[in-house]
Amino acid sequence: MNSELISIHGKTATITEALETRHSIREYLPQPIPETTLKTIFEKALRTPSWKNSQPWKVHIVSGEKKDLLARNLTKAARESTPQPETNWPESYPSDAKKRMFDLGMKIYGVAGIDRKDKEARDQFMLRNFAFFGAPTAVFITSKFDLNFFVGIDLGCFVQSVLLLAREEGLGTCPQAALGAFPDVVRASLELPKEEKVIMGLSIGYPKPDSDLNRFHTPRESAEDLLRFY
Ligand SMILES: Cc1cc2nc3c(=O)[nH]c(=O)nc-3n(C[C@H](O)[C@H](O)[C@H](O)COP(=O)(O)O)c2cc1C
Repeated sequence: MNSELISIHGKTATITEALETRHSIREYLPQPIPETTLKTIFEKALRTPSWKNSQPWKVHIVSGEKKDLLARNLTKAARESTPQPETNWPESYPSDAKKRMFDLGMKIYGVAGIDRKDKEARDQFMLRNFAFFGAPTAVFITSKFDLNFFVGIDLGCFVQSVLLLAREEGLGTCPQAALGAFPDVVRASLELPKEEKVIMGLSIGYPKPDSDLNRFHTPRESAEDLLRFY
């Protein structure tokens, strides 16, 4: 499918359409999401499979003033301190992945009109993560489980369910590891017990139309390189 022709607006009819038209949205309209729509998405996502049906997730859906306060507190923490994630953020990657990550940064900065050498501009752009890119609703995925590999897979499956269901409802999303960078800020705001770890989050809302950032699409490696049929 020609990515230029992919619409980011309106509902989708099939999973294929949701999968093909979903991509990370990093500019939103302030328009709130109806509560019934949020309930539909997150209640359906609870059907996600997990290791022995263990269901390691808790999901916190935050809108309105509480979301605005969290945005301010997270942005302040990101300005003043270094990330303290409770998950193991990867430290090294295979060289081909490094290239893809470098290309992603180059392209996003290019679309956002940021000179790669301008650290101040890059930092400001990064901070937009913590204001949920202007989305009306922020979501935090937490877990009381020991964070082993399969819990990570279960939580990843859950996040993908949400991304596709949101797309089906005509909403945009951005999954964000960044939202797990300052767990104490989230824990204090949502009054979570200490044993509930903040894994990651996502922004969800109506994509801002005519946004270069929202039109930006990441490529994928080819099926020939990644798939083997026996
Ligand atoms: C686990 C995970 C964490 C991510 N964390 C961030 C993040 O913190 N900030 C951000 O802007 N994008 C984040 N992304 C979005 C990825 O950059 C994006 O999914 C990837 O480049 C593919 O692009 P697409 O989502 O537009 O198809 C994350 C995605 C995943 C799956």
